[in-house]
Amino acid sequence: MALLEVKDLTLHFKVNEGWVYAVEDVNFTLESGETLGLVGESGCGKTTLGYGISQLLPDNAHVKAGRVIFKGQDILTPSVKKNGTLDAYRPEIRKLRWKEISMIFQGAMNAFNPVQKVGDQIVEAIRTHEKITAQEAEDRVAELYKLVGIPKDRIDNYPHEYSGGMRQRAMIAMALVHNPSLIIADEPTTALDVIMQRRILTEIENIQKKFSMAMIIITHDVSVVANVADKIAVMYAGRIMEYGDVMDVFKRPANPYTKALFGGFPNLKGERKRLASIPGNPPSLVEPPSGCRFHPRCKYAKEICKKEKPPVMTLPSGQLSLCHFAAEVQSGGGA
Ligand SMILES: Nc1ncnc2c1ncn2[C@@H]1O[C@H](COP(=O)(O)OP(=O)(O)O)[C@@H](O)[C@H]1O
Ligand SMILES: [Mg+2]
Repeated sequence: MALLEVKDLTLHFKVNEGWVYAVEDVNFTLESGETLGLVGESGCGKTTLGYGISQLLPDNAHVKAGRVIFKGQDILTPSVKKNGTLDAYRPEIRKLRWKEISMIFQGAMNAFNPVQKVGDQIVEAIRTHEKITAQEAEDRVAELYKLVGIPKDRIDNYPHEYSGGMRQRAMIAMALVHNPSLIIADEPTTALDVIMQRRILTEIENIQKKFSMAMIIITHDVSVVANVADKIAVMYAGRIMEYGDVMDVFKRPANPYTKALFGGFPNLKGERKRLASIPGNPPSLVEPPSGCRFHPRCKYAKEICKKEKPPVMTLPSGQLSLCHFAAEVQSGGGA
């Protein structure tokens, strides 16, 4: 049984101008201990998808379709109210969220309360969800600090006394307090320099192995995915364009968007590289393009791409691609 199965998940935001079609028809599975890299340009729906899984969506988000099956149970459907919004206060979900599914938020390293010692904030996080003594909680923080590589004597420091990398490590410690089976890490290293990024990713990998924890790592940095993930989901304008084993997708991309994204990506182990710039801009998700959402920027696009949403194609190499011409694109032809 897979740890997590996301099936046909479709999430829209209600706004003044109508709807933002942020996440459409998303499907993937994740096994225990496995890492999925979720990658795509800014604004394509990565964070929304992460929030959908952990059920932290804002009030204007509506679940239009889909299920989130965690350890064999549909955890989403019972939370969806009649009007499609989420009942954020279901006690089952609150428990699950800390103990089973934990999230490292985008920009979280700046989320510590500046006037409270970092260690105390983590102790508090532990004690709001577990009935243990202050001493036990402090011991747990010391353990976690060791795990994420922060010296013990830093526990009593205030957030401003930490470097960015250290604050990010402390956030990871916070996400680990209850030993979750799944961590959703939203851009966990984006604000850090290359060396600190490498160190933190190594730390995360070690922790993951030790506890056989699964992870969804959300990033717009392709090299992060190449370094840590087993599977990759490439997202564009709310849809998963390509999904499969990292090495299959890196070696033989079968979607024009993936190809464009990897374009000019020099070497997997090399220096961090932002996404290649693709001519044109990502579309507005209030009025997304018809047919294939990538067609206005796609050099392979034909008439059919403007009219029909592509089917999910399964390639002989194993990955899935949302493209009318997936096989031709993969073999390098002009479609
Ligand atoms: N609360 C919200 N209300 C309306 N639109 C939103 C809200 N949150 C995000 N969006 C929109 O949803 C789309 C996806 O956003 P997001 O998931 O944050 O993308 P990413 O994390 O890939 O940068 C964007 O168009 C964004 O503007
Ligand atoms: Mg985001």
